Amino acid sequence: MYVQNASVPDRKPVTVPGLLAMKTQGRRIVMLTAYDASFAWQLEAAGVDVALVGDSLGMVVQGHASTLPVTLEHMVYHTAAVARGLSATMLVADLPFMADRDVAHVLEAGARLVGEAGAAMVKIEGAAPHVLEAIAALTARAIPVCAHLGLTPQSVHKFGGFRIQGREQAAADRVLAEALAVQAAGADLLVMEGVPVELGQRVTAALKIPVIGIGAGPHCDGQVLVIHDMLGITPGKRPKFSKDFLAGRDSVGAAIAAYAEDVRSGAFPAPEHCFN
Ligand code: KIV
Repeated sequence: MYVQNASVPDRKPVTVPGLLAMKTQGRRIVMLTAYDASFAWQLEAAGVDVALVGDSLGMVVQGHASTLPVTLEHMVYHTAAVARGLSATMLVADLPFMADRDVAHVLEAGARLVGEAGAAMVKIEGAAPHVLEAIAALTARAIPVCAHLGLTPQSVHKFGGFRIQGREQAAADRVLAEALAVQAAGADLLVMEGVPVELGQRVTAALKIPVIGIGAGPHCDGQVLVIHDMLGITPGKRPKFSKDFLAGRDSVGAAIAAYAEDVRSGAFPAPEHCFN
């Protein structure tokens, strides 16, 4: 084994203004999770735009039934590992459950994930008043924020499971109002998870900031998947919104490259990966 310097020639670093320009120019954003340096390097080599150290690591790495047991220490550890594998790909890290309990905690978490671990942006779930306050506090201190709405996994107990959100008109209108609120609070990016295609389209059209979908249909400005899902190695049934990109290919790198190509061309997600 040897340590490889993660640099790919001719790739310009992906930046926050760069993501906004991609939305304006209609270029789809490719985002994928990573939890360690080796997989980060695979994302970098395949030209993935954004690497997300998701708290999904609680499920796919640690083997828990939800993301709730993930701590800030876990997030800092994995984010720092991923940062060592990246050069041009932008790094986003999740704020774990209850990191938003008050502004002091959220700023401390943001400072550690960005200053210590090397993330360029932090992700926070929901749009409750304290979350809007957290987004404003982080962005005021130059920490870019990715909001996360729809099926927000940290709310699993409130939702009664991992359930599609925004199916009824009133619920869909509420999600759209939340999306406008997180944008107004200062969010630079939005992940929309587990909503009907039409709602994903409405939110994407209404927002100036880029909207990245996961189970939110093909009209979003980009797509994100959990890497274990798209490699077909998550135990149990493959989620409907995902696709096994390793099937029929001979390497992890080829699977990630195919995912990136399908997101950019609009081939993924196909109708069978979407909710109505
Ligand atoms: O934790 C995670 O991996 C996420 C993605 C599913 C968007 O939040």
